Amino acid sequence: MGNEQSVPEDISESESPARWKEGSTPPRPPRSPIKRAASSRPLGTIIQPHSSRVSKRTSKKRKGDKKNGRELMLDEKQIDVPETSIEPVLEPEQEPEQIKMSIMKPVDGKLPLTDECLHYDDVLEVPSNLQKYFHQRYSIFNFYDHDIRLTNDAWFGVTPEPLASRLASDLPSHLYSTPRRTTIVDLFGGAGGNTIAFALSGKWDHVISIERDASTLACAQHNAEVYGVAEYITFIHGDCLDFLDRLKNHPETLDPSLREKCSIDDTVLFASPPWGGVDYKEQEVFDLSTMEPYNLEVLHQACSPMEHVLYLPRTSDLRQIAKLAPEGEQIEVVQYCMEGASKAMVALIPAAASQTT
Ligand SMILES: C[S@@+](CC[C@H](N)C(=O)[O-])C[C@H]1O[C@@H](n2cnc3c(N)ncnc32)[C@H](O)[C@@H]1O
Repeated sequence: MGNEQSVPEDISESESPARWKEGSTPPRPPRSPIKRAASSRPLGTIIQPHSSRVSKRTSKKRKGDKKNGRELMLDEKQIDVPETSIEPVLEPEQEPEQIKMSIMKPVDGKLPLTDECLHYDDVLEVPSNLQKYFHQRYSIFNFYDHDIRLTNDAWFGVTPEPLASRLASDLPSHLYSTPRRTTIVDLFGGAGGNTIAFALSGKWDHVISIERDASTLACAQHNAEVYGVAEYITFIHGDCLDFLDRLKNHPETLDPSLREKCSIDDTVLFASPPWGGVDYKEQEVFDLSTMEPYNLEVLHQACSPMEHVLYLPRTSDLRQIAKLAPEGEQIEVVQYCMEGASKAMVALIPAAASQTT
């Protein structure tokens, strides 16, 4: 289940901002969108970002840069070994963890579309709990009619195209470092809503998209082809927390092609995690410590010390976000709106001091 807020909730199909009617021929997708002007804008939908800066009032010691107990040391004096049991065992001097870790590689080619990678043509085919999203299909993907594929779960979490495009075009101007970061990693790639927008923006040398569900990733690759940007995206089928741990602590376990594209210093992380847990819609102020399966602290620790952009529920607790500000720095928070209502709060968290150039 994804971040279910993403799509406008109360718009019937007749009110949909679709720019063409079924039966007529929809416009063709862009042919070489990576070359398009950075200022290209989504058509027709009003988005009103409101930004503000928040900073923590009291300093908070950063924690968690250690390796989560990976460097457990045994004190020889504590081990009581009977002399008779000592058998010299000669083993190669390798850390056990390195023996276990296989190399994390990008997807080689395309993952096959599965029975879960669906394209609905008619509302009558659509499960009832997805029908309101289907009515918004052209707001989700402009080129829906060009065989866009989604798993049933992905409908709930995909970032609508106008919002994803605006966010992608805003990002570099909001970022804090010079020289500019060259790589963006979409940690929760899903069916490609944000990933495709990042590639279309033409602002990044490398766009990396990580997704742990094979069918969803197959949809993302297919959808990126529809938008003409598949060749500009590096897809990883895996766990983004595992990827981050490797990047920070075991870079040698990443495929050389990934190490070449992505380093701690020149990368921005984008995280649009699932928003499960206590229903944020029920709360006036959403307690980000209750977000599941990854709460704010878990995400921040995993992403630090790199610059990271968090796509969060619109009612997220600003005080909790402010506490993430590195010493002496501010966090920019932007409300992204569609049809006059906020759909998400996006927090831009600077790199920790040692990473800022
Ligand atoms: C809210 S959706 C992201 C939607 C995406 N931004 C889009 O526009 O299509 C969250 C996605 O993260 C994936 N996911 C959850 N935990 C993950 C993890 N640890 N590593 C990689 N992907 C994960 C889920 O399978 C789901 O597809």
